[in-house]
Amino acid sequence: MYCYRKVTDDYYWVGANDHRLSLFENIYPIPRGISYNSYVLLDKKTVLFDTVDWAVSKQFIENVKAVLNGRDLDYMVINHMEPDHCANIEEILLRFPNVKIISTEKAILFMHQFGFPIDGKTQIVKEGDTMNFGKHTVTFVSAPMVHWPEAMVTFDAKSGVLFSADAFGTFGALDGKLFNDEVNFDRDWLDDARRYYTNIVGKYGPHVQSLLKKAGGLDIKYICPLHGPVWRSNLAYFLDKYDKWSSYTPEEKGVMIAYASMYGDTESAAQILAAKLAEIGVTNTVLHDVSNTDVSYLISDTFKYSNIVLASVTYNLGIYPPMLDFLNDMKALNVQKRAVGIIENGSWACTSGTLMRKFLDDMKQMTVLDEQVTMASALNESALNDVDALAGRIKESMELDLTK
Ligand code: FEO
Repeated sequence: MYCYRKVTDDYYWVGANDHRLSLFENIYPIPRGISYNSYVLLDKKTVLFDTVDWAVSKQFIENVKAVLNGRDLDYMVINHMEPDHCANIEEILLRFPNVKIISTEKAILFMHQFGFPIDGKTQIVKEGDTMNFGKHTVTFVSAPMVHWPEAMVTFDAKSGVLFSADAFGTFGALDGKLFNDEVNFDRDWLDDARRYYTNIVGKYGPHVQSLLKKAGGLDIKYICPLHGPVWRSNLAYFLDKYDKWSSYTPEEKGVMIAYASMYGDTESAAQILAAKLAEIGVTNTVLHDVSNTDVSYLISDTFKYSNIVLASVTYNLGIYPPMLDFLNDMKALNVQKRAVGIIENGSWACTSGTLMRKFLDDMKQMTVLDEQVTMASALNESALNDVDALAGRIKESMELDLTK
Protein backbone atom coordinates (compact mmCIF):
# COMPACT_ATOMS: atom_id res chain seq x y z
CA MET A 1 0.00 0.00 0.00
CA TYR A 2 1.25 3.50 -0.83
CA CYS A 3 2.46 5.92 1.82
CA TYR A 4 3.26 9.38 0.45
CA ARG A 5 3.03 12.90 1.83
CA LYS A 6 2.36 16.27 0.29
CA VAL A 7 5.27 18.69 0.73
CA THR A 8 3.83 21.90 -0.75
CA ASP A 9 2.03 23.17 -3.84
CA ASP A 10 2.45 20.40 -6.39
CA TYR A 11 5.26 18.52 -4.68
CA TYR A 12 4.99 15.13 -2.94
CA TRP A 13 7.39 13.01 -0.90
CA VAL A 14 7.43 9.45 -2.28
CA GLY A 15 10.38 8.01 -0.35
CA ALA A 16 10.58 5.12 2.09
CA ASN A 17 12.22 4.06 5.37
CA ASP A 18 14.50 1.14 6.15
CA HIS A 19 14.84 -0.30 9.67
CA ARG A 20 16.45 -3.54 8.50
CA LEU A 21 19.79 -2.18 7.35
CA SER A 22 22.28 -2.28 10.22
CA LEU A 23 25.24 -0.57 8.54
CA PHE A 24 24.77 2.38 6.15
CA GLU A 25 27.33 2.14 3.34
CA ASN A 26 28.15 -1.17 5.07
CA ILE A 27 30.18 0.78 7.65
CA TYR A 28 28.07 3.20 9.78
CA PRO A 29 25.70 1.81 12.44
CA ILE A 30 22.17 3.18 12.03
CA PRO A 31 20.20 2.00 15.08
CA ARG A 32 17.40 4.47 14.23
CA GLY A 33 17.18 3.30 10.61
CA ILE A 34 17.41 5.50 7.53
CA SER A 35 15.04 7.21 5.13
CA TYR A 36 15.55 7.44 1.39
CA ASN A 37 13.75 10.53 0.14
CA SER A 38 12.38 10.97 -3.35
CA TYR A 39 9.92 13.59 -4.59
CA VAL A 40 7.36 13.99 -7.38
CA LEU A 41 6.16 17.21 -9.04
CA LEU A 42 2.70 17.17 -10.59
CA ASP A 43 2.60 20.02 -13.09
CA LYS A 44 1.83 20.21 -16.79
CA LYS A 45 4.71 17.74 -16.90
CA THR A 46 5.39 15.15 -14.21
CA VAL A 47 8.85 15.00 -12.65
CA LEU A 48 10.55 12.57 -10.27
CA PHE A 49 13.46 13.93 -8.22
CA ASP A 50 15.92 11.09 -7.47
CA THR A 51 14.96 7.52 -6.59
CA VAL A 52 15.67 5.32 -3.54
CA ASP A 53 17.79 2.39 -2.41
CA TRP A 54 16.99 -1.01 -3.87
CA ALA A 55 15.96 -2.30 -0.41
CA VAL A 56 12.82 -0.12 -0.37
CA SER A 57 11.87 -0.31 -4.07
CA LYS A 58 8.46 -1.88 -3.51
CA GLN A 59 7.24 0.93 -1.26
CA PHE A 60 8.76 3.57 -3.52
CA ILE A 61 7.12 2.28 -6.70
CA GLU A 62 3.73 2.07 -4.96
CA ASN A 63 4.15 5.68 -3.81
CA VAL A 64 5.16 6.97 -7.24
CA LYS A 65 2.26 5.18 -8.94
CA ALA A 66 -0.22 6.47 -6.36
CA VAL A 67 0.88 10.10 -6.71
CA LEU A 68 0.93 9.93 -10.52
CA ASN A 69 -2.56 8.42 -10.36
CA GLY A 70 -2.46 7.07 -13.90
CA ARG A 71 -0.34 9.84 -15.46
CA ASP A 72 2.86 9.00 -17.30
CA LEU A 73 6.22 10.17 -15.91
CA ASP A 74 7.85 12.77 -18.17
CA TYR A 75 11.14 13.53 -16.40
CA MET A 76 13.47 12.07 -13.78
CA VAL A 77 15.96 14.53 -12.26
CA ILE A 78 18.96 12.77 -10.75
CA ASN A 79 20.78 15.07 -8.34
CA HIS A 80 23.13 12.40 -6.96
CA MET A 81 24.28 9.11 -8.45
CA GLU A 82 25.16 7.13 -5.32
CA PRO A 83 23.26 3.82 -5.40
CA ASP A 84 21.23 4.57 -2.26
CA HIS A 85 19.44 7.14 -4.46
CA CYS A 86 19.84 5.91 -8.02
CA ALA A 87 19.26 2.18 -7.64
CA ASN A 88 15.76 2.44 -9.10
CA ILE A 89 16.65 4.26 -12.32
CA GLU A 90 16.27 1.11 -14.41
CA GLU A 91 13.02 0.18 -12.65
CA ILE A 92 11.63 3.62 -13.49
CA LEU A 93 12.79 3.28 -17.11
CA LEU A 94 11.03 -0.08 -17.38
CA ARG A 95 7.75 1.23 -15.95
CA PHE A 96 7.85 4.65 -17.66
CA PRO A 97 9.67 4.11 -20.98
CA ASN A 98 8.96 7.67 -22.17
CA VAL A 99 10.78 9.29 -19.23
CA LYS A 100 13.71 11.61 -19.92
CA ILE A 101 16.58 11.67 -17.40
CA ILE A 102 17.95 15.09 -16.49
CA SER A 103 21.36 15.20 -14.82
CA THR A 104 24.96 16.41 -14.99
CA GLU A 105 27.40 15.09 -17.55
CA LYS A 106 29.40 13.29 -14.88
CA ALA A 107 26.28 11.71 -13.40
CA ILE A 108 25.36 10.37 -16.82
CA LEU A 109 28.86 8.91 -17.12
CA PHE A 110 28.25 7.19 -13.76
CA MET A 111 24.90 5.85 -15.04
CA HIS A 112 26.82 4.15 -17.85
CA GLN A 113 29.41 2.84 -15.36
CA PHE A 114 26.66 1.35 -13.18
CA GLY A 115 25.20 -0.31 -16.28
CA PHE A 116 21.87 1.52 -16.65
CA PRO A 117 20.36 1.33 -20.18
CA ILE A 118 20.03 5.09 -20.70
CA ASP A 119 21.10 5.62 -24.30
CA GLY A 120 18.87 8.22 -25.99
CA LYS A 121 17.04 8.95 -22.73
CA THR A 122 19.19 11.64 -21.13
CA GLN A 123 19.49 15.39 -21.13
CA ILE A 124 22.63 16.99 -19.68
CA VAL A 125 22.27 20.13 -17.55
CA LYS A 126 24.94 22.35 -16.09
CA GLU A 127 25.27 25.16 -13.55
CA GLY A 128 22.50 27.73 -13.94
CA ASP A 129 20.46 25.87 -16.56
CA THR A 130 16.69 26.05 -16.08
CA MET A 131 13.76 23.89 -17.13
CA ASN A 132 10.09 24.73 -17.22
CA PHE A 133 7.54 22.03 -16.40
CA GLY A 134 4.38 24.21 -16.57
CA LYS A 135 3.76 26.45 -13.56
CA HIS A 136 7.13 25.52 -12.10
CA THR A 137 10.60 26.36 -13.42
CA VAL A 138 13.64 24.84 -11.75
CA THR A 139 17.29 25.90 -11.78
CA PHE A 140 20.12 23.41 -11.57
CA VAL A 141 23.07 24.28 -9.34
CA SER A 142 26.23 22.20 -9.33
CA ALA A 143 27.36 20.90 -5.93
CA PRO A 144 30.54 18.93 -6.61
CA MET A 145 31.84 16.79 -3.71
CA VAL A 146 28.63 17.17 -1.70
CA HIS A 147 29.18 14.30 -1.53
CA TRP A 148 30.32 12.91 -4.92
CA PRO A 149 31.76 14.91 -7.82
CA GLU A 150 28.67 14.64 -10.05
CA ALA A 151 26.25 16.05 -7.46
CA MET A 152 23.93 18.97 -8.13
CA VAL A 153 20.99 20.53 -6.30
CA THR A 154 17.78 21.78 -7.88
CA PHE A 155 15.84 24.90 -6.88
CA ASP A 156 12.26 25.92 -7.67
CA ALA A 157 12.04 29.69 -7.11
CA LYS A 158 8.21 29.75 -7.34
CA SER A 159 7.75 27.38 -4.41
CA GLY A 160 11.08 28.07 -2.72
CA VAL A 161 11.88 24.36 -2.76
CA LEU A 162 15.51 23.25 -2.73
CA PHE A 163 16.25 19.61 -3.54
CA SER A 164 19.55 19.51 -1.68
CA ALA A 165 20.81 15.98 -2.45
CA ASP A 166 22.99 14.68 0.42
CA ALA A 167 23.31 18.15 1.97
CA PHE A 168 21.10 18.60 5.06
CA GLY A 169 20.54 14.85 5.27
CA THR A 170 20.66 12.71 8.40
CA PHE A 171 20.61 9.12 9.58
CA GLY A 172 17.29 8.01 11.10
CA ALA A 173 13.99 6.77 9.68
CA LEU A 174 11.15 9.28 9.38
CA ASP A 175 8.42 6.91 10.53
CA GLY A 176 5.58 9.11 9.33
CA LYS A 177 6.89 12.48 10.51
CA LEU A 178 8.25 14.16 7.38
CA PHE A 179 8.81 17.76 8.48
CA ASN A 180 11.32 19.23 10.92
CA ASP A 181 8.46 20.83 12.88
CA GLU A 182 6.85 17.43 13.41
CA VAL A 183 9.86 16.18 15.39
CA ASN A 184 12.05 17.44 18.20
CA PHE A 185 15.10 17.76 15.98
CA ASP A 186 17.48 19.19 18.55
CA ARG A 187 16.66 16.45 21.05
CA ASP A 188 16.10 13.43 18.81
CA TRP A 189 17.88 14.06 15.50
CA LEU A 190 20.82 16.42 15.86
CA ASP A 191 23.33 13.79 16.99
CA ASP A 192 22.50 11.58 14.01
CA ALA A 193 22.54 14.57 11.66
CA ARG A 194 26.00 15.51 12.89
CA ARG A 195 27.23 11.91 12.67
CA TYR A 196 25.87 11.65 9.12
CA TYR A 197 27.41 14.93 7.98
CA THR A 198 30.79 14.57 9.65
CA ASN A 199 31.46 11.00 8.54
CA ILE A 200 30.02 11.20 5.05
CA VAL A 201 30.57 14.76 3.85
CA GLY A 202 32.94 16.04 6.58
CA LYS A 203 36.05 15.77 4.41
CA TYR A 204 34.59 18.20 1.88
CA GLY A 205 34.00 21.25 4.10
CA PRO A 206 35.19 23.83 1.54
CA HIS A 207 32.78 22.42 -1.07
CA VAL A 208 29.90 22.63 1.41
CA GLN A 209 30.92 26.22 2.23
CA SER A 210 30.73 27.04 -1.46
CA LEU A 211 27.25 25.48 -1.73
CA LEU A 212 26.13 27.43 1.35
CA LYS A 213 27.28 30.65 -0.33
CA LYS A 214 25.22 29.84 -3.42
CA ALA A 215 22.23 28.93 -1.23
CA GLY A 216 22.57 32.26 0.57
CA GLY A 217 21.41 34.01 -2.60
CA LEU A 218 18.20 31.97 -2.89
CA ASP A 219 14.84 32.50 -1.20
CA ILE A 220 14.61 28.98 0.21
CA LYS A 221 11.39 28.01 1.99
CA TYR A 222 11.76 24.22 1.89
CA ILE A 223 14.91 22.10 2.06
CA CYS A 224 14.22 18.62 0.69
CA PRO A 225 17.25 16.39 1.38
CA LEU A 226 17.73 12.79 0.28
CA HIS A 227 17.74 11.52 3.89
CA GLY A 228 15.82 12.70 6.95
CA PRO A 229 13.29 15.44 7.63
CA VAL A 230 12.18 18.09 5.14
CA TRP A 231 12.85 21.60 6.53
CA ARG A 232 10.04 24.14 6.25
CA SER A 233 10.69 26.32 9.32
CA ASN A 234 13.65 27.56 11.34
CA LEU A 235 15.96 26.91 8.39
CA ALA A 236 18.58 29.17 9.97
CA TYR A 237 19.08 26.61 12.77
CA PHE A 238 20.24 23.88 10.39
CA LEU A 239 22.09 26.25 8.05
CA ASP A 240 24.09 27.44 11.07
CA LYS A 241 24.98 23.83 12.02
CA TYR A 242 26.15 23.20 8.45
CA ASP A 243 28.17 26.40 8.45
CA LYS A 244 29.91 25.35 11.68
CA TRP A 245 30.54 21.74 10.63
CA SER A 246 31.81 22.65 7.16
CA SER A 247 34.15 25.34 8.50
CA TYR A 248 35.38 22.96 11.25
CA THR A 249 34.15 25.38 13.90
CA PRO A 250 33.24 23.67 17.21
CA GLU A 251 29.57 23.81 18.17
CA GLU A 252 30.41 23.86 21.86
CA LYS A 253 33.19 24.71 24.24
CA GLY A 254 33.73 21.31 25.76
CA VAL A 255 36.05 18.33 25.99
CA MET A 256 35.80 14.93 24.29
CA ILE A 257 38.08 12.45 26.06
CA ALA A 258 38.79 9.30 24.04
CA TYR A 259 40.74 6.61 25.81
CA ALA A 260 42.37 3.34 24.74
CA SER A 261 42.89 1.13 27.75
CA MET A 262 43.79 -2.57 28.02
CA TYR A 263 43.57 -3.23 31.76
CA GLY A 264 41.90 -0.11 33.13
CA ASP A 265 44.83 2.11 34.11
CA THR A 266 44.58 4.45 31.13
CA GLU A 267 40.82 4.52 31.59
CA SER A 268 41.37 5.48 35.23
CA ALA A 269 43.59 8.39 34.14
CA ALA A 270 40.86 9.56 31.74
CA GLN A 271 38.30 9.41 34.55
CA ILE A 272 40.60 11.31 36.91
CA LEU A 273 41.16 14.00 34.27
CA ALA A 274 37.38 14.36 33.80
CA ALA A 275 36.97 14.69 37.59
CA LYS A 276 39.70 17.33 37.82
CA LEU A 277 38.12 19.24 34.93
CA ALA A 278 34.79 19.20 36.75
CA GLU A 279 36.48 20.48 39.92
CA ILE A 280 37.75 23.53 38.04
CA GLY A 281 34.35 24.13 36.44
CA VAL A 282 34.68 22.33 33.10
CA THR A 283 31.64 20.05 33.05
CA ASN A 284 30.77 19.92 29.36
CA THR A 285 32.77 16.73 28.91
CA VAL A 286 32.19 13.28 27.41
CA LEU A 287 34.28 10.12 27.74
CA HIS A 288 34.52 7.42 25.09
CA ASP A 289 36.24 4.05 25.21
CA VAL A 290 37.62 3.69 21.66
CA SER A 291 37.42 -0.09 21.97
CA ASN A 292 33.65 -0.16 22.31
CA THR A 293 32.57 3.05 20.59
CA ASP A 294 32.08 2.97 16.84
CA VAL A 295 34.50 5.44 15.32
CA SER A 296 31.66 7.32 13.59
CA TYR A 297 30.47 8.50 17.03
CA LEU A 298 34.01 9.58 17.96
CA ILE A 299 34.27 11.60 14.75
CA SER A 300 30.90 13.21 15.40
CA ASP A 301 31.95 14.41 18.86
CA THR A 302 35.29 15.58 17.47
CA PHE A 303 33.36 18.01 15.28
CA LYS A 304 31.06 18.98 18.18
CA TYR A 305 33.56 19.91 20.90
CA SER A 306 36.37 22.46 20.99
CA ASN A 307 38.83 20.22 22.87
CA ILE A 308 39.95 16.66 22.49
CA VAL A 309 41.99 14.48 24.82
CA LEU A 310 43.56 11.31 23.49
CA ALA A 311 44.66 8.82 26.15
CA SER A 312 46.34 5.74 24.74
CA VAL A 313 48.29 2.77 25.90
CA THR A 314 51.31 1.75 23.80
CA TYR A 315 50.78 -1.42 21.77
CA ASN A 316 53.43 -3.23 19.71
CA LEU A 317 55.57 -0.11 20.21
CA GLY A 318 52.84 1.92 18.51
CA ILE A 319 49.43 3.48 19.09
CA TYR A 320 46.70 1.10 20.28
CA PRO A 321 44.91 -0.02 17.05
CA PRO A 322 41.40 1.38 17.72
CA MET A 323 42.97 4.75 18.67
CA LEU A 324 45.08 4.68 15.50
CA ASP A 325 41.90 3.94 13.52
CA PHE A 326 40.27 7.04 15.10
CA LEU A 327 43.30 9.18 14.27
CA ASN A 328 43.35 7.93 10.69
CA ASP A 329 39.65 8.78 10.32
CA MET A 330 40.20 12.26 11.81
CA LYS A 331 42.92 12.90 9.26
CA ALA A 332 40.89 11.47 6.36
CA LEU A 333 37.93 13.67 7.29
CA ASN A 334 40.07 16.80 7.44
CA VAL A 335 39.45 17.48 11.16
CA GLN A 336 41.19 20.71 12.15
CA LYS A 337 41.16 23.71 14.49
CA ARG A 338 41.05 21.76 17.74
CA ALA A 339 43.14 21.84 20.93
CA VAL A 340 44.33 18.36 21.84
CA GLY A 341 45.69 17.01 25.12
CA ILE A 342 47.65 13.76 25.30
CA ILE A 343 47.94 11.04 27.92
CA GLU A 344 50.29 8.17 27.11
CA ASN A 345 50.87 4.89 28.89
CA GLY A 346 53.37 2.08 28.52
CA SER A 347 54.93 -0.42 30.88
CA TRP A 348 58.12 -0.37 28.82
CA ALA A 349 59.17 1.71 25.78
CA CYS A 350 56.21 4.09 26.06
CA THR A 351 55.79 5.59 22.57
CA SER A 352 52.08 6.30 22.08
CA GLY A 353 52.22 9.97 23.12
CA THR A 354 55.11 10.87 20.84
CA LEU A 355 53.46 9.02 17.96
CA MET A 356 50.04 10.65 18.52
CA ARG A 357 51.67 14.09 18.72
CA LYS A 358 53.49 13.47 15.45
CA PHE A 359 50.24 12.32 13.84
CA LEU A 360 48.43 15.46 15.00
CA ASP A 361 51.31 17.71 13.91
CA ASP A 362 50.75 16.46 10.35
CA MET A 363 47.10 17.57 10.46
CA LYS A 364 45.81 21.10 9.78
CA GLN A 365 45.66 23.68 12.57
CA MET A 366 45.74 21.25 15.47
CA THR A 367 47.09 22.76 18.69
CA VAL A 368 48.69 20.00 20.75
CA LEU A 369 49.08 21.06 24.37
CA ASP A 370 52.55 20.79 25.90
CA GLU A 371 51.23 19.55 29.25
CA GLN A 372 51.40 15.86 28.30
CA VAL A 373 50.83 13.10 30.89
CA THR A 374 53.14 10.09 30.76
CA MET A 375 52.25 7.01 32.78
CA ALA A 376 54.46 4.00 33.40
CA SER A 377 51.80 1.28 33.75
CA ALA A 378 49.61 3.28 36.15
CA LEU A 379 49.28 6.81 37.49
CA ASN A 380 51.56 7.69 40.40
CA GLU A 381 51.62 10.83 42.55
CA SER A 382 54.02 12.60 40.21
CA ALA A 383 51.92 11.85 37.14
CA LEU A 384 48.85 12.94 39.09
CA ASN A 385 50.36 16.43 39.25
CA ASP A 386 50.74 16.31 35.48
CA VAL A 387 47.01 15.50 35.17
CA ASP A 388 46.29 18.63 37.23
CA ALA A 389 48.49 20.67 34.92
CA LEU A 390 46.80 19.22 31.84
CA ALA A 391 43.32 19.98 33.24
CA GLY A 392 44.33 23.58 33.93
CA ARG A 393 45.81 24.02 30.47
CA ILE A 394 42.70 22.53 28.83
CA LYS A 395 40.55 25.08 30.65
CA GLU A 396 42.83 27.89 29.46
CA SER A 397 42.86 26.62 25.89
CA MET A 398 39.05 26.58 25.80
CA GLU A 399 39.22 30.37 25.74
CA LEU A 400 41.38 30.36 22.61
CA ASP A 401 39.78 30.94 19.22
CA LEU A 402 41.45 28.28 17.09
CA THR A 403 39.20 28.83 14.08
CA LYS A 404 41.31 31.62 12.59
FE1 FEO B 1 22.85 9.19 0.44
FE2 FEO B 1 25.93 10.20 -1.06
O1 FEO B 1 24.27 9.27 -0.83
